[in-house]
Amino acid sequence: MTKTLEHFTGISDCSTEQLEQLLDLALKISQDISTFENTRTGRMLVNLFYEPSTRTRVSFEAAAKRLGMHVINVSAIGSSVEKGESLLDTFYTIQAMGPDCIVVRHPEEGNAKALAEVAEPGVHVINAGDGTAAHPSQALLDALTLKQNFKQFSEIRLVMAGDIRHSRVARSAIKMLTKLGIGEIRLAGPAEFMPGEVTTAGTVIYDSLDEAVRGANAIMMLRIQKERISGLHIPGGDEYHREWGLSVNRLGLASEGCFVLHPGPMNRGVEIASEVADSRQSLIRSQVRNGLYARMALLLNLTRAAY
Ligand code: CP
Repeated sequence: MTKTLEHFTGISDCSTEQLEQLLDLALKISQDISTFENTRTGRMLVNLFYEPSTRTRVSFEAAAKRLGMHVINVSAIGSSVEKGESLLDTFYTIQAMGPDCIVVRHPEEGNAKALAEVAEPGVHVINAGDGTAAHPSQALLDALTLKQNFKQFSEIRLVMAGDIRHSRVARSAIKMLTKLGIGEIRLAGPAEFMPGEVTTAGTVIYDSLDEAVRGANAIMMLRIQKERISGLHIPGGDEYHREWGLSVNRLGLASEGCFVLHPGPMNRGVEIASEVADSRQSLIRSQVRNGLYARMALLLNLTRAAY
């Protein structure tokens, strides 16, 4: 039986065993979703988003609705945030209405964790992305996608390429996949987009994407996070694509049948060619579908305890 989580603000909230159990549950849901439908009828989830989102917000809503939960969507635009209400006061206001789960996306690091610390018992905080720090439910769906396509994590030689420095997706994926025993993680991108910190422990950095992809069997492309960049030169789309984009030719340097992932949103023709994004090797739409299963597994786990 999976040990229930109180909150899901980062990969470090979970033991390796809990992550493996969440993945096993998500895999079961992917194989027969009907068994799990309407098993949380009457529970409530609030999506509290201070940044734009398509995939994460909609899939938390879809996951909760499949489980029979009520869903309320709050975005900073159009809420009393625009009248100056703080994040904390907004959180307390929403919490007072009795939700089981509050899913938070915020541009500043650490805010989901800070809210989890003041949440009442029975209110579970889920981090849907905080600044450049973490996006743990994305890591869960990425790991699920890899688990469906490889026998063991240890056989995966994954390239993560692009703007690693500003990517919360990369940080959470590196932590998660390292815990799960991935064979190799290679990071590639322009020097100004490479992180210098601890997240790179156990990873190998390449200054050429051609070199990084040779022999790889999975490649995750990342977009340039323009909204988080100031004071750095951002190369033009064509120039970037030539050096750091995943083209058909470049993909041909990888192992035969190498899988391609991208968390989305994609910038076609910049970090990834359309022909690659839409190719048979692309798992990008599977990732989106797995977002539903991974988030259902997460909500089932968090809401198991009755208060
Ligand atoms: N991958 C991801 O977080 O996408 P959204 O910004 O659309 O939610």
